[in-house]
Amino acid sequence: DRSETGQLKRLYTQVSQLYHHILVNTKLGQPALDYLHQRGLDDELIKEFQLGYAPADELLRAFLHEKKEDDYQLLRKSGLFSERETGNLAERFNDRIMFPIRDQTGQVIAFSGRLLAKVPKLPKYLNSPEGPLFNKRKILFNFDKAKKEIRHEGQVILFEGFMDVLAAWRSGVKNGVASMGTSLTSEQIYLLEQTANKLFICYDGDTPGQNATKRALELIAPLSKFEIGVISLPEKLDPDEFVNKYGTDKFKEFIAQNKQTELEFYLEYFKQDRNLEKENDQLSYITDVLERVATVKDPVARDLALNRLAKDFGIERVNLNSQLQSFIQQTQ
Ligand code: UTP
Ligand code: MN
Ligand code: MN
Ligand code: MN
Ligand code: MN
Repeated sequence: DRSETGQLKRLYTQVSQLYHHILVNTKLGQPALDYLHQRGLDDELIKEFQLGYAPADELLRAFLHEKKEDDYQLLRKSGLFSERETGNLAERFNDRIMFPIRDQTGQVIAFSGRLLAKVPKLPKYLNSPEGPLFNKRKILFNFDKAKKEIRHEGQVILFEGFMDVLAAWRSGVKNGVASMGTSLTSEQIYLLEQTANKLFICYDGDTPGQNATKRALELIAPLSKFEIGVISLPEKLDPDEFVNKYGTDKFKEFIAQNKQTELEFYLEYFKQDRNLEKENDQLSYITDVLERVATVKDPVARDLALNRLAKDFGIERVNLNSQLQSFIQQTQ
């Protein structure tokens, strides 16, 4: 395939093989390999996901020259280099652990590179730029591998990051994909909707993750007919931290047993930063929850939420219901 995208695909395949080879077979890759072992990834998993290492030394050009894949214009467009003012190409990824990002067919179309240690002013993860192959809005990490299991179970679990998907995978949870950050897109939702009926959001347990969960729910609800649930991790942990703290068995068990409905999530979510012993906080809490309840289509779920609030705060159901009805009228 001599088309530009055909050439770029071949280039990305070769470069991902090179980065993987450097990680697993060379001295240069040893510190990166040790880092991954330390984070609980074994050699089998590293191979399965073809993780790699991009060393600080510039060796991509020489490698590609040898493979006769060093057409200057192609390399410029590849996103693997940045152009210096002199016209020289500098490698984009230096001293980073490389995560190949694949399209639905399993073709490598981009990379994300992680620093081994914090470096001031540099991003922890650096992605390939968007280009002819890579449109970030339309890509979910691990969708190619997870698709089969997602179809089989009719369920997909959405994580934030690469390491979360890998932690889930080695726990036997193989229907997980990552939005690669907290900004889920409508294109990604569309992709998932084609494959599953149920979606569980399992973002990080920290405040940004929980805020992003709320945003994701608000985006998905009007767009899609998905049955949505949430898996909230304890102690502000992210999935990878949970696995390393409690083990793979506990993670798998937690995922299976802690699926919340959308409303159960909101009932917890709106407790943050509030002291529910205080009447003012109680009132604003109930208002926030009822506003969300008003957007839920399932009348049974709405009823359950009203019962919950009535019981928790010793309020008459009729009073809650009249406030709910006024919210419902506002949203129509
Ligand atoms: P997190 O900040 O939660 O990182 O970002 P992480 O996944 O827990 O990473 P580790 O465990 O420290 O290795 C979630 C995801 O957001 C994207 C990445 O896909 C990351 O996995 N991200 C994050 C970026 O693209 N760039 C960044 O600088 C940071
Ligand atoms: Mn090691
Ligand atoms: Mn996060
Ligand atoms: Mn995280
Ligand atoms: Mn993490």
